[in-house]
Amino acid sequence: MQIIAHRGASGEYPENTLLAFEQALAQGADAIELDVYAVEDELIVIHDPRLERTTNGQGSIYQHSLTALASLDAGSGQTIPTLWQVLQLIQNKCWLNIELKGADTLAPLLTLLDRAEIELGFDLATLLISSFNHPLLAALKTARPAIRIGALTASLPLQYAAFAAELKAEAVHCDADFIDEYMVKDAKARGLKIYVYTVDDKDGLTALRQLGVDGVFTNYPANSRRFLGL
Ligand code: G3P
Ligand code: MG
Repeated sequence: MQIIAHRGASGEYPENTLLAFEQALAQGADAIELDVYAVEDELIVIHDPRLERTTNGQGSIYQHSLTALASLDAGSGQTIPTLWQVLQLIQNKCWLNIELKGADTLAPLLTLLDRAEIELGFDLATLLISSFNHPLLAALKTARPAIRIGALTASLPLQYAAFAAELKAEAVHCDADFIDEYMVKDAKARGLKIYVYTVDDKDGLTALRQLGVDGVFTNYPANSRRFLGL
């Protein structure tokens, strides 16, 4: 079962920061998940569209310039990273799940990935792009069919994983609150991987392994690995 560090090792370090991503790598995570918005056509790594919860700033991210956002404290002296900085850090050391939050992230993403392939030798096979915004995923798949996508759901859909298959996704990303054996069976029957968010406790992790899911998003990669005997 793949251990995906949710917003990095965010249970112990400030979420979605370079520190949290470095620690996720140090803790042996198989993958890192992060969230992005576009500001001035640059992708920045932050979960909320507002600044209060995770930084010393206030208001919407869109009310600030990129320079002003870069000067904020995102916890423990960390800054809000750009996606480019994260790609430089990760350098194919683990696989990466970029979750598109902002609806205007597609064009900046494609530009950035082109540059990352050329300048960093970034391997697109190590990338999985996900979103709750399914039309955005469809547009991405149309623009760049080779890019692998993960379809997020925070519910248990009537047709189970059919929506993910329709999107030509590689994986379906399910909320731990709604996952059940039928969803797992349906995803597998459609040839989809199934990843579940967000689980940190031993019982939950063990139950998911029993269900046969392919991976779990966790805020504590080292603990979760230990709980699973990995
Ligand atoms: O991608 C899995 C998970 O991160 C989705 O929910 O709100 O934590 O981005 P959220
Ligand atoms: Mg996320």
